Amino acid sequence: MVCNEWSPSSGRTMTQRILLIVSGGIAAYKSLELVRLLKAKDMAVRAVMTESAKEFVTPMSLGVLTEDHVYGDMFDLKEEREIGHIQLSREADLIVIAPATANILAKMAGGIADDLATTILLATDKPVLACPAMNVRMWHHKATQRNILKLKEDGIHILEPGVGAMACNEWGKGRLPEPAEILAEIERVLVEAQTTDEHPLLTDTTRTINAPDLSEHNLFGHHVLVTAGPTHEPIDPVRYIANRSSGKQGFAIAAAAARAGAKVTLVAGPVMLPTPAGVTRIDVETAREMLAVVETTLPVDIAILVAAVADWRAADEAVQKIKKDGHAPAPLRLEENPDILATLARHGQRPGLLIGFAAETEAVLDHAAAKRARKGADWIVANDVSGDVMGGATNEVHLVTAAGIEDWPEMTKSAVAARLIERIADALAGR
Ligand SMILES: Cc1cc2nc3c(=O)[nH]c(=O)nc-3n(C[C@H](O)[C@H](O)[C@H](O)COP(=O)(O)O)c2cc1C
Repeated sequence: MVCNEWSPSSGRTMTQRILLIVSGGIAAYKSLELVRLLKAKDMAVRAVMTESAKEFVTPMSLGVLTEDHVYGDMFDLKEEREIGHIQLSREADLIVIAPATANILAKMAGGIADDLATTILLATDKPVLACPAMNVRMWHHKATQRNILKLKEDGIHILEPGVGAMACNEWGKGRLPEPAEILAEIERVLVEAQTTDEHPLLTDTTRTINAPDLSEHNLFGHHVLVTAGPTHEPIDPVRYIANRSSGKQGFAIAAAAARAGAKVTLVAGPVMLPTPAGVTRIDVETAREMLAVVETTLPVDIAILVAAVADWRAADEAVQKIKKDGHAPAPLRLEENPDILATLARHGQRPGLLIGFAAETEAVLDHAAAKRARKGADWIVANDVSGDVMGGATNEVHLVTAAGIEDWPEMTKSAVAARLIERIADALAGR
C-alpha cells in the first residue's frame, strides 16, 4: 500500500507526525516497540528502512505496526511518484533515527546522500533526533565522536546511548535506550520544536539579514514585562472561550529581552511552550487573572503586551457541566473583560514604555493608530492576522509610534522579537 495520507489508526485524530528511520543495527528490533508506544500516544508514524536494517527486522513487521507502506527504495518509481523523497522529508513534525548506526551518523555528518534514508536527512527542514546504538569500541572511536560533535553543532538532537552489556559479549556505552526513554525524548524535542520558528538544519538568510546582534543593545538593569498567549474564559468546568494565539511571538520577545540582559517577567496564558532561558514565568488562565498578576509585577520599566486577551467572558459561569436536555441551549451571555493595556496606561505605576499588540483582519494601520490613541499606549505593533500568522512561524508587522508608522518586512517571529528589542534599547539610549 502506498498512500499520501499519514495513516490514522481507528479514525482518531493524530496530533504529531513522526518519520522513523531504522538503520542496520542489532537493536533495530526495539523500533517495533517504539512504534507501538508512539501510536499509543496518538502519533502518526511512517517508517523508512535502510537496506541493512532489513537484515534485522522485516518491512512487513514495521508496516503492520505503522499501518502504512514502509519506504526504503529511492529509485522505486511508484513510491517516488506517489509521495517522493522530498515530501517524505518535509511533512513530518520530527524525524527520528532509531537505532542510528555509526555508518548513518558518519554519512549525515559528511552530508552524504546515497540512499533514501540519508537523502531524506539531507533534504529535511524538520528537527531530527538520532538515537545512536553500536558496539562500545565503535562508539568511542575518534571518528564516531567527531561525527557526533559535528551533528550536534549542526543542530541534530542526539540521545546518548546507554551503558551495559552488549550483544557482542562486551560491556560499555553504546546500547540503544529503551523505547520508553526514546519516547520521552521525542516528546521533549517536539515541545522544544514548537517554540523555535527556525529550521534547525538550514542556514537561514532571512534570519541573518533581519535579526540584529542583541549584544550591542543592552537592556541590563531594566525590568521587562511581557504577556503572551491566549486567555481561556470558562463557560462551565469543561468548556471555555478561547482564540488561536500560539504564544510564539510573545515567548520570542521574552527570550530576546533576556538575551539583551533584561530582568524579564513573562505572564503566559494557556500554551504548551517551554520557558525561555533567563525568564521568570507566571502562568494564568483568564483575562482577569492576567490583569491581577500583571499588576503585582509593577513597577516595570517596559511592558510589552503581546497576549491575545479575550475581549469577553461568559457572564454566568456554570458551576456544573451544562447538560444537553433536548431543548435549545440557553443563549450564552457575554460580558466585557478588563482592558489590560488601557489599565496600565492609566496606572499610578505606568511602565516607562508601554507597548501593545494589535491583531487585525482589516484596515490594520487605521485600527492600530486608533488603538494607540484610545488606549494611551506609547507604541503599537500591528499585524494582519487574516492569514495563518496565529501559530505560524513568520510575522509581518508595522510599528506605530508618535513619530509615525514603520513597515517591517516579513520575518521569523524570532527576528521580529530581536528587532523590537533593538528598537526599545535604542529608544532608551535616546538613539
Ligand atoms: C550482526 C550485526 C550487528 C550489527 N550491529 C550494529 C550496531 O548495533 N550498530 C552499528 O552501528 N552497526 C552495526 N552493524 C554494522 C552495520 O550493519 C553496517 O555498518 C551497515 O553498513 C549499516 O548500514 P546502514 O547505516 O545503512 O543501516 C552490525 C552488523 C552486523 C552483521
